[in-house]
Amino acid sequence: MNRMLNNKLLSCKNLSKNQIMKILRRTEEFEKKPSFNNQGYNFTLINAFFEPSTRTMLSFQQACYRLGGRVINFNKEFSSINKGESHYDTVKSLVNYGDIMVLRHPERGFVEKFSEKEKMPIINGGDGDGEHPTQALLDLYTIYKNFKSFFTENAHILNILIVGDIRHSRTIHSLIDVLKHYPRIKINLLPYENREPQYEMIENIAREHNQFVEDIVYDKNNCDYSKYDVIYMTRLQKERHGGTQNVNFILNKQEMEKVKKDAIIMHPLPRNEEIATEIDDDERCVYFDQMKNGVFVRMTILEMLLGYT
Ligand code: NCD
Repeated sequence: MNRMLNNKLLSCKNLSKNQIMKILRRTEEFEKKPSFNNQGYNFTLINAFFEPSTRTMLSFQQACYRLGGRVINFNKEFSSINKGESHYDTVKSLVNYGDIMVLRHPERGFVEKFSEKEKMPIINGGDGDGEHPTQALLDLYTIYKNFKSFFTENAHILNILIVGDIRHSRTIHSLIDVLKHYPRIKINLLPYENREPQYEMIENIAREHNQFVEDIVYDKNNCDYSKYDVIYMTRLQKERHGGTQNVNFILNKQEMEKVKKDAIIMHPLPRNEEIATEIDDDERCVYFDQMKNGVFVRMTILEMLLGYT
């Protein structure tokens, strides 16, 4: 059993910088050395998704196959939930069918609460508008790959602009939790209307990144896009808190002209209208590459939690 992550990955809040760097380096090994695939590990992964998923579920499945494991995919539509079984009883049952579980649930805190008394290694695959730790790690890995010198020499400043539903996006919450270990990364937020962050998040960013509180949140009219090395876009979380608002910033060809030549545009996906498809071929757009990175990061996490390293 792996002590480093204490057998669970529920949040990025308690990860140390050393642990994070270890994850990045192991992920890089998986990506760079195809012979590292096919580890021949013998385990069964339970994908327990109570909310829709394309990337997280399938990339865990692929990561599992590459390590030599098997997968059981829970399908809520065809389950006994339709006979009135509770979500708790359902997960409690699934635990009997494998060795490690990825659990995604629409209720914030559900994964953590379930995990408290559970011995099985559990990975939070996204809990409501709470957290999404493996997404944050693959996002950080994508930044690491594109700005290697920043991580090795730690000499310069990296500017990140995070755009979208800052209040409800779990990928943003977890990303901010991992970025806190890199005070030379400076963070600005460009929230959609009524999706502004809690004040506590702004205070934390100011403290951890040595920035002024009043210098963190921008709106699209006073934001200088040419300053950023990373622009991290997200969609409006319509299914969580209503979709009556529109997104107030759309990244299209015209806006891309203002963006640095060597910047990267990230998005956890799925995208809605916030990124125009006309920019997909721009080499600064790395959102589909992020997906590929997700498989390698998830191989690392599975391996660690199963105690193979
Ligand atoms: C995100 C999620 O489910 O939180 N997608 C993902 O896992 N790649 C982002 C979202 O739903 O907006």
